[in-house]
Amino acid sequence: MRALRGSNVLQNEYYTWLKHDKHSGAFTVLLKPDARRMASLLNLGDPSREPLCLQCHATYVPDAELRGEKFDIEDGVSCESCHGAAGRWLESHAVAGATHAENRARGLTDTVSLTSRAALCLSCHYGDGDKRVTHDLYGAGHPRLSFELDTFGVMEPKHWVIDDDYLKRKGPYVPVAAWIIGQQALAEGIVRTLSSPELSRNGMFPELSVFDCYSCHHSLSEEQWKRRTYGGKPGRLAVNIAPLLMIREALVALNQPDAPEFAALVSTLHDSYQSDGAPQALARLQALLAGSVGDFARRMPGDEAASLAIMRQLASFGAQAEALKYEAAEQIGMGIQAAMATSPRLSAKFKAPLDRLFVTLESARSFSPAKFKEAASQLALKLS
Ligand code: HEC
Ligand code: HEC
Ligand code: HEC
Ligand code: HEC
Repeated sequence: MRALRGSNVLQNEYYTWLKHDKHSGAFTVLLKPDARRMASLLNLGDPSREPLCLQCHATYVPDAELRGEKFDIEDGVSCESCHGAAGRWLESHAVAGATHAENRARGLTDTVSLTSRAALCLSCHYGDGDKRVTHDLYGAGHPRLSFELDTFGVMEPKHWVIDDDYLKRKGPYVPVAAWIIGQQALAEGIVRTLSSPELSRNGMFPELSVFDCYSCHHSLSEEQWKRRTYGGKPGRLAVNIAPLLMIREALVALNQPDAPEFAALVSTLHDSYQSDGAPQALARLQALLAGSVGDFARRMPGDEAASLAIMRQLASFGAQAEALKYEAAEQIGMGIQAAMATSPRLSAKFKAPLDRLFVTLESARSFSPAKFKEAASQLALKLS
């Protein structure tokens, strides 16, 4: 890649992606023994030729006529997977004065708007349509998917720098805003999946990946039944609704009028999904997420006071909840981290107790709800 003089972007995007971004190796993992074994357990052929795997592990363009000259599937999840097919904007977007709106009109994907960025990432990190990691894939050894827009954006790692020039061109990036918009997009995905005739409990067989993995995959020797409160319903499967719980907590933290209704709907979904599919609660949640709750997420204040309120709310949720599942505990940790990242002052003050909370999240296998609760209580105390 040749550096452009007078350009306002880093021009080491390629290097960052190649050396540090796991996306550049997303195709190569399909050549490795783990992926081959996974495919053979699933009675599939070569995973590096299997559309099911390629649609998330590469820039997947099955129609050869649509591939450009430099197309190479081995590039994995490459620039064009995220920024769109470059044929029509590659030359023009680097010309001085090219505006973002002009570039988008030529097919550049909008990665700046957090709503469309979340949809982009989640198309692979949660799945959409036929593109999903089902329990069959998990059973064959696929790693568990989890996602939080701010945290994963930092981990990727960033190949852009938010300096004065970026701010002028694209506006500010607020971590806590990325967090809530990511949760909103995940919550919409979950509600859609749970309402879908094919995947839900009404399908041929309920798709196990919509439930908390650790409601089945915990060791019986942990004797969780001695400690957990089951709301009178032991032995039930719990749907994985961690992002809905995060939104519920944000609505409470910022005193939103929707908070009580949203909380009641989430409880109904949790309690009655397995017995009757909770169709009314799902329909109402969908309407709220598309309406007033969605508006709240898109406009949530990202100042220090709001961030602190969210940190407090999430920490006390973690401190009070009985036997939290790993999925929810992990989202609490990432949510607090995103809110803290909004202000250097908050980071300076609360980084150490938050690090101690993350120690309890290191391994999903050996996760101890009691240790998490203890660390969350300590953090809540510091925040109060
Ligand atoms: C819905 C999208 C999706 C599909 C379909 C999918 N994957 Fe993945 N896969 C991912 C994501 C996202 C990750 C990274 C998860 C993480 O680390 O958070 C991943 C991770 C992996 C890893 C671990 C990579 C590493 O660095 O250790 C392997 C191996 C893998 N996938 C193999 C497969 C195979 C084989 C198939 C097809 C049978 C497949 N995947 C289908 C999205 C998908
Ligand atoms: C996993 C998705 C993903 C991949 C892969 C990816 N990008 Fe990006 N890129 C983003 C996001 C998100 C942003 C931040 C939002 C923005 O500024 O558009 C961004 C921003 C940029 C910017 C804007 C910097 C600025 O100052 O305005 C450039 C240039 C860029 N990427 C180039 C590349 C190149 C070149 C590659 C391939 C080597 C690549 N990207 C691969 C997601 C991705
Ligand atoms: C086309 C599908 C696709 C899209 C779009 C995508 N990813 Fe990924 N992502 C993957 C796959 C597949 C992997 C696993 C690669 C591997 O481990 O080799 C991955 C891995 C990652 C990892 C590394 C996870 C780990 O465990 O180390 C991060 C972080 C990540 N993606 C963030 C993002 C973000 C942020 C976006 C949106 C801006 C995004 N991804 C968009 C498919 C995608
Ligand atoms: C309703 C209960 C249930 C839920 C929920 C569930 N699983 Fe499973 N899982 C099973 C059963 C039953 C098996 C088959 C057990 C066996 O072969 O020993 C299995 C097998 C597996 C295996 C293969 C284990 C082995 O040792 O062969 C993996 C890995 C796995 N599941 C991962 C997951 C993940 C990740 C999730 C959440 C996204 C999840 N499961 C959710 C019931 C569940």
